[in-house]
Amino acid sequence: MSDDLEAKIEEAIKNPRNLREMKDADAIGTVGSADCGDMLRMWIKFKEEDGRKIIDRATFQSFGCQTAIAVASVATEMLKGKTAAEASAMSGEELAAPLGPLPPVKIHCAQLVEGALRSALGGEEAQAAQTKSTSPTLLDSLGADAKSQTKVKVVLRATDAVVSASRIHEQR
Ligand code: FES
Repeated sequence: MSDDLEAKIEEAIKNPRNLREMKDADAIGTVGSADCGDMLRMWIKFKEEDGRKIIDRATFQSFGCQTAIAVASVATEMLKGKTAAEASAMSGEELAAPLGPLPPVKIHCAQLVEGALRSALGGEEAQAAQTKSTSPTLLDSLGADAKSQTKVKVVLRATDAVVSASRIHEQR
């Protein structure tokens, strides 16, 4: 990893942007990485502006590596003002662009952010009513999962792969 990238990640970790739950979110997406067991949830709030529905705010929580947190931090800033279509067209590479190119071993970290974003945007309307009143924290989700031994189904749309992340806890 280059010194420049390391410095940018360090800076993003020191002062992560939008690292929190969002109680009034319109859409929520959670994704886990089958590569490393890391997990990330993204919340999105829309607003109407000039007849367009655009992203007003995006926030995240992560049980992930520093790179995933740094990418989510810069990505949630970049998403503001974009339509759902514009946001879902963004690749992990584009979401991580403010940090600079990621080394091959860290590309899946950006794909984790991309997956959470696409998961949120994929079911935005349907999720809204369901999640507003009952949305658990990411920690709650993991705790519940550990207790019930139920599988967490995750979608990494970057590769159109649907994978089970039930081994998250086994890997830690
Ligand atoms: Fe798993 Fe970065 S190492 S998301």
